[in-house]
Amino acid sequence: MLQGKTIVLGVSGGIAAYKAVELVRLFTKAGATVQVIMTKAATEFVGPLTFQTLSGNPVHQQLFNLIEEQEIGHISLAERADLFVIAPATANVIGKIASGIADDLLTTAVMATRAPVLIVPAMNVNMFQNPLYKANEERLRNLGYRFVAPVTGMLACGWQGEGKMQDPAVILEEAVALLAPDDLAGETVLVTAGPTREEIDPVRFISNHSSGKMGYAIARAAWRRGARVILVSGPTCLPDPWGPETVRVSTAAQMLEAVQARLKESSIVIKAAAVADYRPKERSEAKVKKHAGQMTLEMERNPDILAEVGRQKDGRLVIGFAAETEDLLANARRKLQEKNLDLIVANDVGQPGAGFDVETNIVRLLFPDGRVEEPGIMPKEELADLILDRIVALRATPV
Ligand code: CTP
Repeated sequence: MLQGKTIVLGVSGGIAAYKAVELVRLFTKAGATVQVIMTKAATEFVGPLTFQTLSGNPVHQQLFNLIEEQEIGHISLAERADLFVIAPATANVIGKIASGIADDLLTTAVMATRAPVLIVPAMNVNMFQNPLYKANEERLRNLGYRFVAPVTGMLACGWQGEGKMQDPAVILEEAVALLAPDDLAGETVLVTAGPTREEIDPVRFISNHSSGKMGYAIARAAWRRGARVILVSGPTCLPDPWGPETVRVSTAAQMLEAVQARLKESSIVIKAAAVADYRPKERSEAKVKKHAGQMTLEMERNPDILAEVGRQKDGRLVIGFAAETEDLLANARRKLQEKNLDLIVANDVGQPGAGFDVETNIVRLLFPDGRVEEPGIMPKEELADLILDRIVALRATPV
């Protein structure tokens, strides 16, 4: 997600500095080169060696350092940044930046950078609510600096309130979004994901192996690329992603209702959910007891949500998935036509490395003009972006 990017991470002096350690780990894991600048106060909370070990780079602390200055002055540090993140950012550092003060390495490098700057405040609730702080934040926001708002909780100073530094995983999402193209800005993308559950009685249900990973990856990628995203999800073990609005449902009937309720405002619909085609004709109120001999369960058809969406297109792009175990292309082509789709993503779920509950997928992309694309095995995160690339191209093609 951050391959080839350089992130300069400024750490200022607050107790949340310990959480910045995790942030370095997440940034490097995502492929970024991380250069850490610590203020003097930050070194009182966490030792520079921790950041140095995790980033694999020396930690920068001094504005005038004769040894460092030759090869990596504050200007070159500022210039090399694709993104500048300050986490935690104290009221003091934010005040200095807002006032144009550059009296240490961090504030000087921030002033010198042309990269986007993401500020992650962390402070006591009273400081956060102080009008001086609010004015500084507003001034910086108006100048194009981006903020990740703090959360409410128990603060290290003993107070309860707003001021806790946001979770490192969320900061990572915001950082990735800042570096991603904004080519879905203005679109509202409705994504469905996961399985549905069709209840037999209060303790049993019929479902499938879908984990929701593919749909969630698409929802996250679309949000990073600037879209407003509504994720309608069947029951999964995945947490609500940061960014998209998540609507949780259980049955196919509930999924249809949720999709229909949000269809009007959506300009792109991507149906990655594995919807159960049938549900038990009757759901027993009491737990079904066993008795001698066999049991027969009568099933009735669920609505086909995608076909329904395809019938009322109204200028929106509609993308479906096809889970197949045989005759992949023929079945996918038929679904593409019958459901009136702009693109279908077909996967052979019987193949190792494809389909349900794995990190990768192997798909073919089929278009209404007969084109078939075969991108080969790839991580679901990467495939999500490839699918969105094709959707952006479809959007750009006049009908
Ligand atoms: N789909 C849907 N509602 C259903 C069944 C499927 O919206 N009741 C959508 C899925 O989300 C997917 C596409 O239709 O985008 C194809 O789903 P798939 O299970 O591959 O095919 P089906 O249409 O159900 O056909 P079959 O089960 O016969 O393969």
